[in-house]
Amino acid sequence: MILNFGSINLDLVYRVPHLPSAGETLASASFEKYLGGKGINQSIAAHRAGAQTLHIGCLGPDGDWLRDQIADFGLPLDGLQSVDTPTGHAVIFVDDAAENQIVLFGGSNHAFTRSQFDAVLAKADPASDWVLCQNETNAVPELAKAAKAKGLRVAYSAAPFDADHAVPMLDHIDLLAVNEGEAAALQTALGKDPRSLGLPFLLVTKGSKGADLFTATDSYSQTSFAVDPVDTTGAGDTFLGAFMAEFTLSNDPAKALRFAAAASAIQVTRAGAAPAIPMRDTVLEFLKDHS
Ligand code: RIB
Repeated sequence: MILNFGSINLDLVYRVPHLPSAGETLASASFEKYLGGKGINQSIAAHRAGAQTLHIGCLGPDGDWLRDQIADFGLPLDGLQSVDTPTGHAVIFVDDAAENQIVLFGGSNHAFTRSQFDAVLAKADPASDWVLCQNETNAVPELAKAAKAKGLRVAYSAAPFDADHAVPMLDHIDLLAVNEGEAAALQTALGKDPRSLGLPFLLVTKGSKGADLFTATDSYSQTSFAVDPVDTTGAGDTFLGAFMAEFTLSNDPAKALRFAAAASAIQVTRAGAAPAIPMRDTVLEFLKDHS
């Protein structure tokens, strides 16, 4: 099972002709609201890719619509905690080139408690379960340490990137997922190539250039599939959730990379983050057509 301790946001998405510059007032062409957040996007991607997934998250008093959305996606709700803090949200601008700009309000995503972690970790199975986490929630190093102390494997997406958060995590994880920019920022912070850290798994996504996976002994590369994107929001989350699902199901890194590349290629051709994530059958059909 994938135990994802992650963010849940209300995504407020504005389509704009170009990303706004400082001091500019810009009319939007449309406005939509969606379930989002890097954490829940990854959970939905893993769930839709066929992996048993539990999302552990916090919702404020205003979080009922998001809870209903999570239920509609078919994820179990027993990992969700109600807290007093207002629910996290993201203001997202998407331009005509499908690029985005995101401003986050962390809110309830920063209300995780040790007892919430411990209740889930106590029931986890080190033989089969992975813990997944990102940087949009509080107490991530404490979670990773507690999970490792129980013998669980930990996957960490260092996004949104902050070297002060990422560097202390490196001793407590089995899989680090970064995009190219995050990998470069981490290299600057460490003063050495992240590949030299000897992590069991280092996943580097490179957008339209594909992705690389480095293990202690091997490396794998996957090119991206050419598509016409309409919205790239959540593409990295889709890649990681789909990768984790396929990797835990097949234990085949190359197959998991290819599956994840297809899932994220499909996802960027649709609007929104979570609702754009494809089902497993759709990904397999796509792969058949692109073999
Ligand atoms: O990665 C995309 C996500 O980043 C959005 O869904 C938004 O909520 C922010 O967390």
